[in-house]
Amino acid sequence: MTPVVVADPAALAEAAARWTAERIGRAVGERDACYLALAGGETPTGCYRRLAQPPYDSQLPWSRVFITWSDERRVPLDDPASNYAMARAALLDHVPVPADQVFPLTEENLPALGRVPKDPAGLPRFDVIHLGMGEDGHTASLFPRNSALKERRAIVRAVDDAPKPPPHRLTLTLPALNAARAVLIMVSGAAKREALARVLRRDLALPASHVQPADGELEFIVDQAAFGR
Ligand code: 6PG
Repeated sequence: MTPVVVADPAALAEAAARWTAERIGRAVGERDACYLALAGGETPTGCYRRLAQPPYDSQLPWSRVFITWSDERRVPLDDPASNYAMARAALLDHVPVPADQVFPLTEENLPALGRVPKDPAGLPRFDVIHLGMGEDGHTASLFPRNSALKERRAIVRAVDDAPKPPPHRLTLTLPALNAARAVLIMVSGAAKREALARVLRRDLALPASHVQPADGELEFIVDQAAFGR
């Protein structure tokens, strides 16, 4: 797997925003809607801030975008630790996505995932899924040796023992991730260099290596510090 390698976090934000904007425009142009699952953690924050700036803030068809998350911490939505709060501050408070098209990944909102168009197997087929990756190769809240990684039927699983705090999370599962039309994994920083190299070699000991869309594209946008070499 060959990633897009950019100089630094600012360049990663720019490239990820451009990549995402292209796919939002394509989805809305082809199907009059874009179903987008945002990532959590720090890395995507720059991309979300960039999408809230010109030209994307006014040029993208935000009124036709439906938003959820690829994982969420089970904390109050206004808790700074929630991925929802991060995306609100960086992006959603600054672009006109209708409120009834934003679905925080919570137990009570799970029925809303039924609005995502399905693939022939009945799985939700997101137009775009954003993911980050941890130093242990986890992605979303799919951690090494965790049973959620083995889930092959449910599209969302609760995780109660995440090694990355907070421990209680909800995550899209591999069936949901791998049904997507396009998945972007954003990786930044030298601390992730070894895990990234192993995932790019498809070392299946690492959860992120299992993200392989069955009928969709997979892109890695990584900075030089994470890529090394
Ligand atoms: C979360 C994320 C998680 C994150 C990685 C990378 O809720 O924490 O979904 O999977 O993407 O841990 O986090 P950073 O981008 O903060 O390094």
